[in-house]
Amino acid sequence: MEKIKLGPQTLLVPLPVTLLTAQIEGEKPNIITLSWVGICNSEPPMIGVGIRESRFTYHMVVEAGEFVVNIPGENQVKAADLCGNTSGRNKDKFAETGFTAIPADKVSAPLIKECPINMECVVKHSIKLGSHDYFIAEIVETHVNSDCWTDDKKLNIENLKPFAYMTKKRSYYGGFSDIFGDYGYSVKS
Ligand SMILES: Cc1cc2nc3c(=O)[nH]c(=O)nc-3n(C[C@H](O)[C@H](O)[C@H](O)COP(=O)(O)O)c2cc1C
Repeated sequence: MEKIKLGPQTLLVPLPVTLLTAQIEGEKPNIITLSWVGICNSEPPMIGVGIRESRFTYHMVVEAGEFVVNIPGENQVKAADLCGNTSGRNKDKFAETGFTAIPADKVSAPLIKECPINMECVVKHSIKLGSHDYFIAEIVETHVNSDCWTDDKKLNIENLKPFAYMTKKRSYYGGFSDIFGDYGYSVKS
């Protein structure tokens, strides 16, 4: 197959679709959709999120130094798209989406009740990269819907129904039901 040279690109696929919630004391909480997101450390668990300074949420994250990363399921695709195409400057995204804000245990930002996974995060580092600032945060508490967690401490993907964003296609993809193998299966005799 011939290769097409594209120059420097952000061509990493698939990307997670996350809903970051942030709240400043005395103000309404906000939701921003983020895909420039990745786990970047195991002990302690840490996550990195890239946010443009122009986003309303950016200043909330800088001021609060805390946020929650909520992972939506397939039935929340439309709400996730809405939170990524409207601003908290002029919209109450909890009211727009019908999402329910419930208090977190350790941070000021609320959890989105309807999202099956919620990670409470405290910012430890921030780096100006150019278009985006990268916030590296410690995950200080994690919540998962009980129907998405099995007795042997694994995710129930069938109930979780995660979906992904394909950059440079600008579409959401789901329906992850085919298991190609379990971790390490290639080296098992
Ligand atoms: C699928 C998707 C992924 C996005 N990823 C990011 C991202 O990683 N960083 C970012 O700054 N904006 C991202 N955006 C754009 C913001 O979500 C969008 O500008 C949002 O309206 C900002 O909301 P706010 O002004 O309330 O903060 C994404 C949007 C979508 C739809």
